[in-house]
Amino acid sequence: MGPPGVGKGTQAEQMQALLGVPHVSTGNILRAAIQQEGSPLGQDVRRFVESGRLVPDDLMGDLIAERLGRKDASGGFILDGFPRTLPQVSILEKVLNGLGLPLDKVLMLVVPESEIVRRLSGRRTCPSCGAVFHLESRPPTVSGICDVCGSMLVQRPDDTEKVIKERMKVYNDQTLPVASIYRGRGILVEVDGLGEVDAVRARLNAGLGKGLALS
Ligand code: AP5
Repeated sequence: MGPPGVGKGTQAEQMQALLGVPHVSTGNILRAAIQQEGSPLGQDVRRFVESGRLVPDDLMGDLIAERLGRKDASGGFILDGFPRTLPQVSILEKVLNGLGLPLDKVLMLVVPESEIVRRLSGRRTCPSCGAVFHLESRPPTVSGICDVCGSMLVQRPDDTEKVIKERMKVYNDQTLPVASIYRGRGILVEVDGLGEVDAVRARLNAGLGKGLALS
């Protein structure tokens, strides 16, 4: 968990390799659908994603149940961007009960708002392979070109000043109450997201705690 641009995707991407479980990002699933020409799902969700509003809970529930039911997720997964509303907390509970998997920990990254604006305004992403860069802190080797697949990097349509404001509002109104639920259950770990990517990852790893952390 954590506000827009805090570094969830960057960290989850690295942790998936280290923990050997898939990184399931609802944002990436929705963006992939939008990119698929003629996809009815993509047409449905585009207006929500590009304006910074949340996609309706019932649709998100279907998507997450389908994704977590796949074979590669049977040994666990890192969820990034779900649940984001109180109804989604219940949906996740039902899906996990059905799969017989526990929710081990909820890691929440925290940084000051000024850093969020800096991270989002400098973010550049690859529309082909999804790799994420930053103009200052993680620049591509060749300006404007993806290091991984050579495609032209772009700025996400929801990374404009107006949409960032809306995403922050939605996060504060609808997603912070989710953190309170998990705090009450004693599984929320708040982690300082400032500093080098590796330093943040080490803090997240420590936050996973005994039995889950990498040695
Ligand atoms: P989603 O893609 O999940 O967006 P988000 O939560 O706003 O998060 P971001 O992807 O913007 O940021 P991030 O925290 O992953 O940061 P990143 O690692 O890229 O969702 C998009 C939209 O989809 C939503 O607005 C909504 O419409 C819809 N949606 C998704 N899930 C939904 C749900 N469950 N229900 C309903 N609707 C849903 O890092 C950001 C930048 O910072 C990068 O440039 C990176 O290189 C840089 N950076 C990262 N770490 C560091 C560091 N330690 N130091 C310096 N720079 C860093």
